[in-house]
Amino acid sequence: MAKAKSKKKEKKLKKRQERCEQVAAISPDRFDEMRQALQARVKASRYRHSLGVSQTAEQLARIYGVNQSEAAVAGLLHDWDKSLTGDELKRKAKKLKLAGKEVREHATGVLHSWTAAATLRDEFPELSDAVLQAIGRHTCGAVGMSDLDMVVFVADIIEPGRDFPDIEGLRAAVGEVCLEELFYRTYKANFMYLLSADMVVAPPSLDVYNSLVVERKERLEAERAACDAPAGNEASEAQLLAVEIARREQLAREAEQQMALARKAAEERERVREEKRAKMQAEAAETQAKLEARGKARLEALSQPEPVMRPEQNASSQGESICDSGEAAGVKTNEASAAVSAQASVEQPAALAGDQPEKSKVERTPNGARIIPIQ
Ligand SMILES: [Fe+2]
Ligand SMILES: [Fe+2]
Repeated sequence: MAKAKSKKKEKKLKKRQERCEQVAAISPDRFDEMRQALQARVKASRYRHSLGVSQTAEQLARIYGVNQSEAAVAGLLHDWDKSLTGDELKRKAKKLKLAGKEVREHATGVLHSWTAAATLRDEFPELSDAVLQAIGRHTCGAVGMSDLDMVVFVADIIEPGRDFPDIEGLRAAVGEVCLEELFYRTYKANFMYLLSADMVVAPPSLDVYNSLVVERKERLEAERAACDAPAGNEASEAQLLAVEIARREQLAREAEQQMALARKAAEERERVREEKRAKMQAEAAETQAKLEARGKARLEALSQPEPVMRPEQNASSQGESICDSGEAAGVKTNEASAAVSAQASVEQPAALAGDQPEKSKVERTPNGARIIPIQ
């Protein structure tokens, strides 16, 4: 069942597309035939109005991306049944069951759109459903208007031959607002005109107006949401920027910490080097001091005159000083020297013979002092 419905829907859609292509393919000559038929059907003012609507609809279609050929044809033929009188329209609408008695009696002005949409294909078989629908909706509109429906409706209100207080505002809005907003403003202006002129508002128009108000509210909320989206993106970008700043600050802190650690390590290495240097200097100084002390000791030892120890001095050193007793001592020294000399002449005949003391003859006292024999 569902499959059958789907096939039927596809077939209908295909047929509609074929019809749209046929309308789009309407030649200038065929369009001129339609224009001449309209001209022969309606009065001059209606004909001029229809030409204005056709041209305006084509312009709106170009601006809002709607099929221009369909818009031009729908605009041209939208008031096809305006040639009928009120009574003719009532009878035709009743015959076609297009409107109730109340609408037929009190809103006769909207009947021409419905009757034309229902019968125009008898005159022009190539007209698409879309064109006929736009023609049928150009008075009261409908819930769920197509783009072509809105284009034809707006064109009928703002075409060059129209003149009413708010028309320039509507014309100025063309291309400045979306098609839905342009249609809403146009529909509202038309609605206000009916009220100001104390004209009956057809029941379908009230439903359409209410639906347009609701749709517009939803559309504006969606547009506000879309407008708020960049703000959200900006907030998101600000958050990302804050995160990036925080990340770079963290990197800077880490780099500073690493530099501090590097400085501390360098200072520690320098301190160790300084300690080693000081220790080496201390050791060097100590070694130097020891060496100097040792050298000094050696120098002192070397520079100290070695005492000449004579045998008698050895004896005298046990009781009195050499210089303690003046000449008397000198006398004794001479006497002692004479005695040592006499002893030496006795004990060392070889030295006298060789005229040089022999080393083997040199003696030392117990404390290491040499005993040099007196010659
Ligand atoms: Fe009309
Ligand atoms: Fe019209």
